[in-house]
Amino acid sequence: MDIVDQLRRIEKNATREFLAAKSIDSIEQLRVRYLGKKGELIAILRGLKNLPAEKKREIGGQANRLKASFEEIIEQKRDEFSRAVPGRLTIDYTLPGHPYRHGHRHLVTLVMDQIVGIFQRMGFEIADGPDIETDYYNFGALNFPPDHPARDEQDTFYVEDDYILRTHTSGVQVREFEKRTPPVKIIAPGRVFRHEAVNARSYCVFHQLEGFYVDTDVSFADLKGVLEAFCYEFFGEGVKLRYRPSFFPFTEPSAEIDIRCFLCGGQGCPLCKHEGWLEILGAGMIDPSVFDAVNYDNEKYTGYAFGMGVERIALLKYQVNDIRLLYENDIRFIRQFR
Ligand code: DAH
Repeated sequence: MDIVDQLRRIEKNATREFLAAKSIDSIEQLRVRYLGKKGELIAILRGLKNLPAEKKREIGGQANRLKASFEEIIEQKRDEFSRAVPGRLTIDYTLPGHPYRHGHRHLVTLVMDQIVGIFQRMGFEIADGPDIETDYYNFGALNFPPDHPARDEQDTFYVEDDYILRTHTSGVQVREFEKRTPPVKIIAPGRVFRHEAVNARSYCVFHQLEGFYVDTDVSFADLKGVLEAFCYEFFGEGVKLRYRPSFFPFTEPSAEIDIRCFLCGGQGCPLCKHEGWLEILGAGMIDPSVFDAVNYDNEKYTGYAFGMGVERIALLKYQVNDIRLLYENDIRFIRQFR
């Protein structure tokens, strides 16, 4: 083979092989093969002396440049591989990364946000009240008689003197009525506290959402309309509602509202405890005595109020059978609901 062709072949092959080398050993093998005592490139350099002067200069120049470029690659590669010493981290950029765990809302927050969103779209404003409340706002102004059993220490956490942890969000009604003149159309989401034994059904801390609307000519039909719209959107179109007469000191008439069990359609199943119905909220027309407490004109205004337990609704909708799971913070449980 012509010496020029030989050089070209070496340049082409060797360059590729050097660049592809993956270890110090393979670099060394290539060095021996091309630049060792019996190396292919060295052989060419040795043979130069037999060439005519002109060729000697031309081919010698090329061969030496090639030798220098191989030496440079060898140097670089050795440097690169020697940095990969055992115990030191070598990074394989082709491996898949470790994904970051994104946080997300807790099931209770998720359901609360859904409920709040539905009522906001129906024109309700949001209001808030303090967790530590006075007896007056939590009970007195809401027409609870002084000896009402809800005040009993078995139900209420006492802080000191007249202060308690609020047992429901209904007190926000009174606070808002004091600040505003009708029309008042508000929802009050928030945390409430009950001094109760913790079990699968009840917890000492939970969340409620209170809603109320006061204006001239607000009727029970308005209340039904709003609750139906809410249930259709939250539980699904076509869900059936049942109104059971009930009693709350701050509403008259009062009702407890059930929905047809969405799991069995009313046939009876473990979710509805074979009743066919699931209780989801309390409601009624605001009692005139509440209006008296806040100096609203009973002749002029009427209003409705309703209240629901958020955990209860979350447990029903997502078919979780123990409220304690919501507060144990087992990440495997929490991650199921996003
Ligand atoms: N405050 C009641 C409770 O904690 C729930 C409730 C019932 C709220 C009837 C209302 C209502 O606004 O009208 O159990």
